[in-house]
Amino acid sequence: MFGDKLESQALQKGCEEDIEKHCRRCIGKPTMRTMNKLRKYGIYVLFCMLLFAMVFQFSADLRQPSYPVFKLSEGNMTNRMIIVVTPTYKRMTRIPDMLRMANTLSHIKDLHWIIVEDGNKTVPAVRDILERTKLPYTYMGHKTILGYPRRGWYQRTMALKYIRSNTSQILGKDHEEGVVYFGDDDNSYDTRLFTEYIRNVKTLGIWAVGLVGGTVVEAPKVVGGKVTAFNVKWNPKRRFAVDMAGFAVNLKVVLNSDAVFGTACKRGGGAPETCLLEDMGLEREDIEPFGYEKDKDREILVWHTKTSTPNIVKSNKNSTKKAPPPDTFGYFVEA
Ligand code: UGA
Ligand code: MN
Repeated sequence: MFGDKLESQALQKGCEEDIEKHCRRCIGKPTMRTMNKLRKYGIYVLFCMLLFAMVFQFSADLRQPSYPVFKLSEGNMTNRMIIVVTPTYKRMTRIPDMLRMANTLSHIKDLHWIIVEDGNKTVPAVRDILERTKLPYTYMGHKTILGYPRRGWYQRTMALKYIRSNTSQILGKDHEEGVVYFGDDDNSYDTRLFTEYIRNVKTLGIWAVGLVGGTVVEAPKVVGGKVTAFNVKWNPKRRFAVDMAGFAVNLKVVLNSDAVFGTACKRGGGAPETCLLEDMGLEREDIEPFGYEKDKDREILVWHTKTSTPNIVKSNKNSTKKAPPPDTFGYFVEA
């Protein structure tokens, strides 16, 4: 018995020595052991780093909402609502004129179109054109009242009043700022006028207009980024010698004043633009010029065009009686 125990102890010892030897062979020198430890912990470290990266990415995603964020910082106000005011009146070329303008404006995002009919009623054919633009719009009728010239002045006045009393409805929930532009129904507009000039107006933006004021182009004269005068032929001494198509004002300027179009404008020599802008409390120093940067090949983004009234041949030239309206064969023409 006792011998058996001794024998088993010796066996066990031998065994332990064997194991130690074997293990040493397996595990090798102490440096190798460290290496293996590192390898083992390295997997943990790698795993932790991966987990951290995943958590970081997830929290970044949470911080950045999936809906668009409108940055309100100065100079990055790209989400201003453009409010275009258009007086319009019945004439043979009005539908095609409005059609061209509607086709242009329908390319512009974040634009509310206010159309004011110089008449007591709105016209279904005009409304159909507006509907097809898919733009948010307001179409109302205000016939020019006594004392006002029949040139869109009263209609623009009514539009300004409408803007002031329906501001939040026009801006909608996505817009905090807006820009007001008076776009007549017969001009020719480049879409970049809206996207590159009007959208960026912080106070008062002014740019060149083609074929206006008895000359080929009227433009602000810019020196060192500031408007010092106006390159115009007609009435250059005006504080703002600019056509209606050549400027836009930030909505806050409109809301901070009660200026409207009066029945006359002596300071403008009959033209209404300088009176409105002066009455809004604006100075030449407030002007932000657009499109003057290049030395040559400067582009004109709005043209003061006018569609000529077609010469409709009377059915009976020799008759002294008033000619009946031309046959439209069931088609709608404002003849
Ligand atoms: C020029 C300017 O471009 C106008 O912005 C300015 O109002 C006008 O002079 C002026 O002196 O008061 P012009 O091209 O000669 O305009 O005029 P129109 O284009 O015939 O009329 C200006 C706007 O008023 C148009 O949108 C037109 O549809 C509208 N209008 C004209 C009316 O609403 N009722 C009218 O009887 C005539
Ligand atoms: Mn015109």
